[in-house]
Amino acid sequence: MCGLIGYIGNNAVAQTLLDGLKNLEYRGYDSAGIALNDNNEIDVFKAKGKLNNLFEVISNHQNQVQSSHVGIGHIRWATHGKATVENAHPHLSNDKKLVLVHNGIIENYQELRARLEKEGFVFHSQTDTETAVHLIDKEYKTCANLEQAVIKAVKQLEGAFAFCIMHKDEPDKIIAVRKNAPLIIGLGDNENFIASDIPAVLGKVQKIIHLNDGELAIVKQNSVEVKDLNGNLINKEIEEIGFNPEVISKAGYKHFMLKEINEQPAIIRKIVQEHLSDEAIVWGKLPCTLNLEKIQNISIIACGTSLHAAMFAQNLWEDWLQIPVHVEAASEYIYRKNITSENTLFIGISQSGETADTITAVKQAKEKGAQILILTNREDSSIVRYGDCVVPLQAGIEVSVAATKSYTAQLAALYWMGLYFAEQKTSISANQLAVLKQNLTELPAKMEEILSNSTAAQNLAQKLTSYSDLVYIGRGINLASALEGALKLKEISYINANAYAAGELKHGPIALLDENMPVIAILGPGVTFAKMISNCEEAKARNAKVIAVLPLHSDIKEGLFDTCLFTPQTDETTFPMLANIQLQLLAYYTADALGREVDQPRNLAKSVTVE
Ligand code: M6R
Repeated sequence: MCGLIGYIGNNAVAQTLLDGLKNLEYRGYDSAGIALNDNNEIDVFKAKGKLNNLFEVISNHQNQVQSSHVGIGHIRWATHGKATVENAHPHLSNDKKLVLVHNGIIENYQELRARLEKEGFVFHSQTDTETAVHLIDKEYKTCANLEQAVIKAVKQLEGAFAFCIMHKDEPDKIIAVRKNAPLIIGLGDNENFIASDIPAVLGKVQKIIHLNDGELAIVKQNSVEVKDLNGNLINKEIEEIGFNPEVISKAGYKHFMLKEINEQPAIIRKIVQEHLSDEAIVWGKLPCTLNLEKIQNISIIACGTSLHAAMFAQNLWEDWLQIPVHVEAASEYIYRKNITSENTLFIGISQSGETADTITAVKQAKEKGAQILILTNREDSSIVRYGDCVVPLQAGIEVSVAATKSYTAQLAALYWMGLYFAEQKTSISANQLAVLKQNLTELPAKMEEILSNSTAAQNLAQKLTSYSDLVYIGRGINLASALEGALKLKEISYINANAYAAGELKHGPIALLDENMPVIAILGPGVTFAKMISNCEEAKARNAKVIAVLPLHSDIKEGLFDTCLFTPQTDETTFPMLANIQLQLLAYYTADALGREVDQPRNLAKSVTVE
């Protein structure tokens, strides 16, 4: 949550910071701000709302932003205090000499604030962050330099933080420090960057350093020193950036979301080639170091869309592996007495690898001795360090806040991983294994078929714009599809969409149904199909419009469905990956028809680094 950037070098600082923030907008867009250290004073510019508003503020102060060669910037997802200019970062000390930007939450801020206020520090915002400014400022008065003041202050902070800090009297540097929030240093030629994430420095530098928790960097124009919080120098590995700048361009699409939906067949093709092209299933580029013999149960923990991927896996894996698979929202798991043990394979799924709830759950399971497997799209993310084994999704950077291609890649990864475990355990027959492998191999072409003609989804989307509430239903493996379809629609269109297990409809939610409450039914082939038809009949009998997502040529009664979104024919296990594309298109076109900001829906951020 929140994105930050720091720059020191000879390029136009304000513009460089704004360019970096533009590529971090997926992390939050409630307010934005920059601070420039221009030798005489610290200048701060802030604006409420999207980054464009800050562009305007800066363009009105062009002569003020010319002379600096060092600055920091921030884009906010509000936690403590509303999205106002006062609460926007950067935050200044009372003497206006020290300034910082922050990502994370300072949990003991109330106690610190009370103490600092008693000592005479004046607060101007409701943020937890402002506490850190005054605390560092207080320590600065008794320390030899900014570095020491920061070390002394951050030792008093509880919670999560990544900071970029500047002081007017030390204009040759920015100090960066982190605990439980991501931070990288971008190494340039005669210039250096600090950022929350790689997109902020893509195209600017090739080499980066990942800071770890409890590390502090002194970033100057021509040098970077990394130290621990005792002041000892640390020799850091310099890494090459693995992404090409094109991953953050829309490539002619109206929105990143549409581009990312269309990338899905290629991603699945790559996954299939890497894992299924040999006779035996190939684990992949990172070795599987798990002790499979020991595993008696599996827990899969995740949030949001990743949780839906976990539910999909549960359906397949209990059948294929014949052992209990438990799935739970990370935010619930961490407060429950659970039975995770050293016989548990504990899987944390997180696209971003920065989701605080999922990281906490993984840490707890590790303490209980479980074997940890991490499935993430970001091999450089915080969650990775807790994994005994890491499976990279390889979906490429996902810019749209609504997850699409990462979800499909998660489903495909969980599919081949399930087959891999089943093959190792010989818990399914060679024949069945071959059929399932073939089903996944055929998926990319079928996905392309759906994407090549989205007219039905577009037409239906136009109709959905006139409704304020919708119900999604699914059963078995397609309950996850229904939940994900509803989540996608509500998060980008703001239409209230609730998903139910179809069998549960009659136990209460059916009371909602009438002609103003359309039902979107996900009718996958296989054991649940006939029962789903009955549930659709029940909805129809209550005058609800019934929309079906189902395979072409399914055996259906004429007139039962008001609209159908078809997928090519496929089996029960792979149908969710096709249905999902129709549901993504439906959500996308509905939100676009309503004129929503599809890639940056209100109140959301791409990585949720707070619990
Ligand atoms: O990065 P993660 O997979 O851990 O993120 C989990 C959720 O925050 C995320 O899936 C969220 O639900 C998205 N907005 C879905 O589109």
